Amino acid sequence: MACGVNFSTITQPRPQPCYPSLSLSSSSSPSNSPKSLISQLSLVSNNPCLSLRRDRTLARSRLRAPNFKVLASAKKPEPLKIMISGAPASGKGTQCELITQKYGLVHVSAGDLLRAEIAAGSENGRRAKEFMEKGKLVPNEIVVMMVKERLLQPDSQENGWLLDGYPRSLSQATALKEFGFKPDLFILLEVPEDTLVERVVGRRLDPVTGKIYHLKYSPPETEEIAARLTQRFDDTEEKVKLRLRTHHQNVEAVLSMYTDITVKINGSIYKEDVFAQIDSVLTELLEQRQATSESLAAK
Ligand code: AP5
Repeated sequence: MACGVNFSTITQPRPQPCYPSLSLSSSSSPSNSPKSLISQLSLVSNNPCLSLRRDRTLARSRLRAPNFKVLASAKKPEPLKIMISGAPASGKGTQCELITQKYGLVHVSAGDLLRAEIAAGSENGRRAKEFMEKGKLVPNEIVVMMVKERLLQPDSQENGWLLDGYPRSLSQATALKEFGFKPDLFILLEVPEDTLVERVVGRRLDPVTGKIYHLKYSPPETEEIAARLTQRFDDTEEKVKLRLRTHHQNVEAVLSMYTDITVKINGSIYKEDVFAQIDSVLTELLEQRQATSESLAAK
């Protein structure tokens, strides 16, 4: 297992009075290196107070904007660079919606970039669709440059990025490293396989807002939205089994590149509670960043 925090093992209810003790002390450890963060997270993960399972009060409280101290003299911290990974329908896109809403990162989804190429009718899109229909990885010569160019756009550089569904192979991870893209955190969503199939089959998309729905777990708010929902061409039971096989063939190799910055998140609970877990980790990471830039400014 990676040395990241496995929140899925933390199931005890967390009494409210424990909450203040969850804060990682940024002043005592100003380093924002991934190793430092993960070692602190590992300490926190041993804390029985850290149960986020079905704690909707906490989920709501953690959704509020972080209350960072801003010192006029402090240099703006580096923007966050996050990767999110997981099997098909593990909830990557759903969590990316929530993360970008709160943290303002630029969501870069390899799957969305490929579907945009298909919609544009380009040659790359036509070739990509052949692989996507078989649940296989689209060749690197199409995907790698596409993702690289998106990450180099000024908005990603300025605001930080949230890379969804990339890298999916060792060669993609290596290419990213060679281009100089270094993530701060690698989030792995863990969901049992039977749940994944049900999520795929019931997923629907709103072509107007881009929002992700599920007929049972996240139904559309109005009749008008329900009438315009679409289904992805690869969202069938047959195709998701192929996509799952591809995922299993590659995931360990990708994880091996990011062991010291990996955080494993239980993705099988309510989406708000999944987000609460991620939110805690990101908040602590930002607090460390802030402490580091303040301590540098004070020198
Ligand atoms: P991509 O589009 O990335 O698909 P995927 O990885 O299979 O993931 P999904 O988009 O299906 O699921 P998700 O994890 O985002 O789940 P979501 O939030 O929507 O890639 C498609 C294809 O493109 C690949 O198969 C491949 O061919 C190609 N490709 C992509 N990247 C590539 C790369 N790097 N290299 C080469 N080829 C590449 O949620 C799913 C459903 O569950 C929704 O209905 C949602 O409402 C529901 N749901 C979510 N969370 C919860 C929850 N907590 N509880 C209940 N329901 C939930």
